[in-house]
Amino acid sequence: MAYLKYYGHSAFEVYVDGKKILVDPFLSNPLSPVKANDIKDVDLVILTHGHGDHLGDAVEILKNNKNAKVVAIFELANHVAEQVGDPSRAIGGNMGGPMIVDGLKIALVPAVHSSPIGAPTGVVIKSSEGTIYHAGDTGITMDMALIGEIYKPDIALLPIGGHFTMDPVEAAKAVELIKPKVAIPMHYKTFPVLYGTPEEFKKLVEEKTPDTKVVILNPGETFEFKF
Ligand code: NI
Ligand code: MN
Repeated sequence: MAYLKYYGHSAFEVYVDGKKILVDPFLSNPLSPVKANDIKDVDLVILTHGHGDHLGDAVEILKNNKNAKVVAIFELANHVAEQVGDPSRAIGGNMGGPMIVDGLKIALVPAVHSSPIGAPTGVVIKSSEGTIYHAGDTGITMDMALIGEIYKPDIALLPIGGHFTMDPVEAAKAVELIKPKVAIPMHYKTFPVLYGTPEEFKKLVEEKTPDTKVVILNPGETFEFKF
């Protein structure tokens, strides 16, 4: 069955259509119940941008999982594959150009943020079992209305911690624009500066967008889905 597993911060394991995907695998974050060496049988590592709390342990995971490829914006994918020692493992794309990878449709979408390598992105993963939008690090942007309209995400993973990204107020507005069936908060609690709480986010979404269900995952918890 398709699932999402949360590893704290913005790190998720996504299992759809028989593919195991890690998004932003910063598993050395203080909340993660697993470490990079625990991760096996990965097909894809997707990175939203090059900040250390997203790039995370990608290189080590790719070294340990010889069949896994890295999907990210062109410059970042190439950089990571070079670090791994095998440029052929990069699947570099660019903003708004959906890619067909392992039978999945993967689109890098705008994020309002910065990145040391390439441009910052969110990512949409479209599978036969559901469509997931991982927003990466971003402020709120009207682009989210387009992402909602075009890709119709079943699940939106949204940063809520504030300071570097949206806080619960902006993230609740993002839910209004995206209109997903399920919204899962991320990028909170890892560091003291991230003040936004999932409880406040849930309350605001319930007020403004009652058709969207907020699912709060503790690190290590899994959310199974079927749409
Ligand atoms: Ni960042
Ligand atoms: Mn971040």
